[in-house]
Amino acid sequence: MCGIVGHLGPSNSVDIVLEGLRRLEYRGYDSAGITFLNNDGQLETVKKTGKIENLAGELKNVNTESMASIGHTRWATHGGVTDLNSHPHSYGHLSMVHNGIIENADDLRDELIKNGFEFKSETDSEVFLILVYSLLEKLSLKEAILKAFKMVDGNSAFVFINEKSREIFAIKRAAPLVCGTHATNSQAVLSSDPYALIGAADRIYFPEDGVLCHLSASNKELISFYDLDGNPSSDYKSQSQEMEYDPSDKGDYEHYMLKEIYEQPGLMRSLCQFYFDGDGKKLLKEASELKPERFHISACGTAFYAGLLVRDYLEGINRIPCVYELGSEFRYRNPILKKGDVSLFISQSGETADTLASQGECKEKGVPTVSLVNVEGSSLFRGCDYNLLIRAGVEIGVASTKAFTQMALTGRLLSHALSPDYGDTDKEKILVDKFSLLAERVDDVLHRVDVIKKIAEEIYNKKGYFFTGRGQYYPVALEGALKLKEIAYVHAEGYAAGELKHGPIALIDEEMVNIAVVGPELKDKTISNIQEIKARKGIIVGIGPKDRSLEKISDFFIELNFDGLDELSPIYVNVVNQLLSYYMAKFKGTDIDKPRNLAKSVTVE
Ligand code: G6P
Repeated sequence: MCGIVGHLGPSNSVDIVLEGLRRLEYRGYDSAGITFLNNDGQLETVKKTGKIENLAGELKNVNTESMASIGHTRWATHGGVTDLNSHPHSYGHLSMVHNGIIENADDLRDELIKNGFEFKSETDSEVFLILVYSLLEKLSLKEAILKAFKMVDGNSAFVFINEKSREIFAIKRAAPLVCGTHATNSQAVLSSDPYALIGAADRIYFPEDGVLCHLSASNKELISFYDLDGNPSSDYKSQSQEMEYDPSDKGDYEHYMLKEIYEQPGLMRSLCQFYFDGDGKKLLKEASELKPERFHISACGTAFYAGLLVRDYLEGINRIPCVYELGSEFRYRNPILKKGDVSLFISQSGETADTLASQGECKEKGVPTVSLVNVEGSSLFRGCDYNLLIRAGVEIGVASTKAFTQMALTGRLLSHALSPDYGDTDKEKILVDKFSLLAERVDDVLHRVDVIKKIAEEIYNKKGYFFTGRGQYYPVALEGALKLKEIAYVHAEGYAAGELKHGPIALIDEEMVNIAVVGPELKDKTISNIQEIKARKGIIVGIGPKDRSLEKISDFFIELNFDGLDELSPIYVNVVNQLLSYYMAKFKGTDIDKPRNLAKSVTVE
């Protein structure tokens, strides 16, 4: 989703901001732009729809020497994908970029138009810019931003660059924002994602909501912070920047998604190492001290489906009841939150607005908050009382693969921490061995990828796809269908195998494919469900254990060995679904790593 980068310092600002924007590309966007303070002391803006390379191409025609600039990648919400709607927006001596949504933009715009201001774009963002400008008659820029900020509703981050003095202002409410400084390079940077600051900052600052960050060349510290009344503020967290940037070229892989699928066995193995022998021990210990009577699980997209597996662990192994709800629905259902409840949030980015909104609701109601999260230091990480890191590493492919696996496995570790087995070294060894067995089995699937590729080639052009599964395989049927929709742009639905006959079976004909996940549990019942599809000429891709009747009924069959995997089996099957989606998308020729309309990190509700 929208990304922000800003820089101020002696080196060429535009290059640094452009590099930052490239690192945010994986989040998804449809236009990009930069405003820089040129050699004549004037703000100059270049913005283009499409990929960052279009912007970089345009910038080649301009002298971009500059010591202050701001940049943005836009994922359209208010107003179409046009150059004019792209950010930065400019008015007079100000330029601004914005992430988020201004909920009362229409009212404010009407008022400003009445007062004679003219708008160039259809965006809500420009409203904030002009609102600030309109206040400058009586106020300084700092005061005007603070006043305007109090007048807007919704979650947003705003960044301003000022032509009159080499300075940048930034402020946010429930939207990601991180600032940083580099002592030796005397530069200050900011972004919506710490990933953009790696190498450019050695100390980073996470401001709280409503804290105004002021980056200024005339300030020895380079950054200062103010509260909403304009007084100095210390309401931010500061830490040294320790993340590493691996320009992660894709190696021999054609796409990041494929590379990330192949990383899974290694990550599974190292997760146990981290939690049983490494720094994660402390985190697991903290989690083991929770006394939940009931869990509320809330997440979005792939993380939600991983949450369904986690629910199965917590209910099946620990017998702790779980209520689960999509992040976007949670707080609007007026959830019943009681003493003894613990809330669990699952997220790769830790910045998904809907998940954060659920977390905010639980926090406000005094319910302890726990996260399973990938990005350390993200808003979710900082907001929760307890965090278990899923340790997936940077995930670049917009369609999540390895994060799903790590979320489910970390959920299994949470369930272990809450069980009587916690601390029992023999029992822990059994669990670690099970994780290793899973890694082995996934390795085996990856070695047999040609079978999956062949099937993908046969079915990629059909009319529609049902992924089905029962019991613990139902969540991966949902996730399988989501993956296929995301990257192959075909209609796919996940169904509980037994439910297909209650309506969707009306859609079955010889052009419909049923990707049928069959585990050793409920095998015969699931095969009966597949018979119903077969009888109506549906094409069957069977994924399951060696079984004569399953093989016979399947037009295509992928044999799996479930022995010893028990509750980890769905994660194993899911890798097959990932590969199937990947190769179907490849045969269709879609943009696999950056599918149309999608954003990796969805920071608006
Ligand atoms: C977006 C992405 C999905 C992701 C979901 C939740 O919709 O496109 O791939 O699963 O957000 O993201 P999170 O970062 O919270 O896991």
